[in-house]
Amino acid sequence: MANNPASELLETARLFGVDYKTHFDPKIYLENYHTTENRFFNKMLEMFHELAAAAEIRDGSRLLDVGSGPSIYSVISAGSRCSEIVCSDYSTQNLDEIIKWVNGDPDAHNWQRYFEYVCKLEGKNDEWKLRQDHIRQAIKRVVPCDIHQENPSAPLTLEPFDVITSSLCLESACSDKSSFRSAVKHVTSLLKPGGILFLAGVQGQTFYSVGNKRFKAFPLSNEIIESVSAEVGLTNLRWYNETCDSKKYTFEGLPCDMSGLFAVSATRISG
Ligand SMILES: C[S@@+](CC[C@H](N)C(=O)[O-])C[C@H]1O[C@@H](n2cnc3c(N)ncnc32)[C@H](O)[C@@H]1O
Repeated sequence: MANNPASELLETARLFGVDYKTHFDPKIYLENYHTTENRFFNKMLEMFHELAAAAEIRDGSRLLDVGSGPSIYSVISAGSRCSEIVCSDYSTQNLDEIIKWVNGDPDAHNWQRYFEYVCKLEGKNDEWKLRQDHIRQAIKRVVPCDIHQENPSAPLTLEPFDVITSSLCLESACSDKSSFRSAVKHVTSLLKPGGILFLAGVQGQTFYSVGNKRFKAFPLSNEIIESVSAEVGLTNLRWYNETCDSKKYTFEGLPCDMSGLFAVSATRISG
């Protein structure tokens, strides 16, 4: 694999915050994590599928994906019943990758395998192209966001959403429980009362790698997410957890130290 740290010296600096605007290379990230089939993202797709299948998402709902990076896999399941999807991220180079995919640019990342996998989980093997067309057409906007701002989409004011998805963003963007609490509160403010949040990511992780760069992460746990959810008005939590059997779990030779994966859905308390 090109840009794999096996062939390059790993940088020791732990990148964070504003570094995402300058040091997070979407092409290297996509090549490292989303090019060859892997158990990690199959599991993420399975968890999003299970949570979306169990949730009541009305046809025509509006969905926001927070911290999309250059990826669209997190909206494939819940987005099937949505007529409007907004993708968002802190860095414009990531948003540019999504715009390329929406526009069918030949240089865009190929997500076909992800659509095939989700449609297979749904027992609709032949429908991956229809789903891909639907998601492409439903992504109406791609906007900057910063989950550390009270209004993450500022200066834009977005109407509250029926559904919010987010994958691998909050643990990358937050440094401690207090900033995680504030970020979840800000994200939840973009959800309608009664709306559903689908959050997925990794637990126990202090860093991960993109090419030869290392990014800092906040080690999440079910306990932290549960206590913060209660504080910000999220209820009705439904969990999926998968423990990684090694502390030094590696992803295609890319060092990181996660201890497990999780996905959770939660409802914003009405009133
Ligand atoms: C590990 S990537 C995950 C990307 C994508 N969701 C995925 O699963 O492939 C972490 C993402 O969080 C974004 N991010 C970092 N800080 C952020 C912030 N303050 N607000 C919103 N997004 C942020 C980064 O730009 C990056 O795209």
